[in-house]
Amino acid sequence: MTATRHFSPLDRILIEAQHALGTTLGQARAERPNPAGELPRAALDPAERRHAAGLMRINHTGEVCAQALYVGQAAVARDAATRAQLEHAAQEETDHLAWCADRLRELDSRPSLFNPLFYAGSYAIGLAAGLRGDGWNLGFVVETERQVEAHLEEHLATLPPGDERSRAILRTMKSDEARHADEALAAGARVLPSPIPRLMALTSRVMKAVAYRG
Ligand SMILES: [Fe+2]
Ligand SMILES: [Fe+2]
Repeated sequence: MTATRHFSPLDRILIEAQHALGTTLGQARAERPNPAGELPRAALDPAERRHAAGLMRINHTGEVCAQALYVGQAAVARDAATRAQLEHAAQEETDHLAWCADRLRELDSRPSLFNPLFYAGSYAIGLAAGLRGDGWNLGFVVETERQVEAHLEEHLATLPPGDERSRAILRTMKSDEARHADEALAAGARVLPSPIPRLMALTSRVMKAVAYRG
């Protein structure tokens, strides 16, 4: 049984700010083991390592955005079940975030310096979606997850051939994202009207170009 606690608006702002800091500074802690496990650390040449780090940095930033989106949406979700679903998805995204951060460290690299900016932008989008109602909220989850799934597929194909550790992480993420989309659909997601998916794709193209470089 969970006790109902009353949070003042200031408490809520502090809790969300703490979450934002933890997420953007890369202090995420995974609840599940890293899928790369004991897979061998293949020797990558410098160009391969840079490319793998660029891709994993994109994925890390994508997870920062997913966190912010879901936290923003959950903050204004009307229905308790929708809120619980968003919070559960956000927890799995925390695993993804931690695994991507681990892999970036192994590749002698670091998360994007622009993550606080991406967090703030995605949080605002999440709030805006959430304020339009739970059908929209879930519709956003479906569209986000489908787009993430598509870019993970692309990364799986373009990672250096020897980089099985990154690939293992992305494969698990991809199957989690597909499940997040299916669950949101089953919970009554509405289909987002036409300019929105395109705008989301455009935003994510900008994010990918920036995060790949640093
Ligand atoms: Fe994710
Ligand atoms: Fe997801």
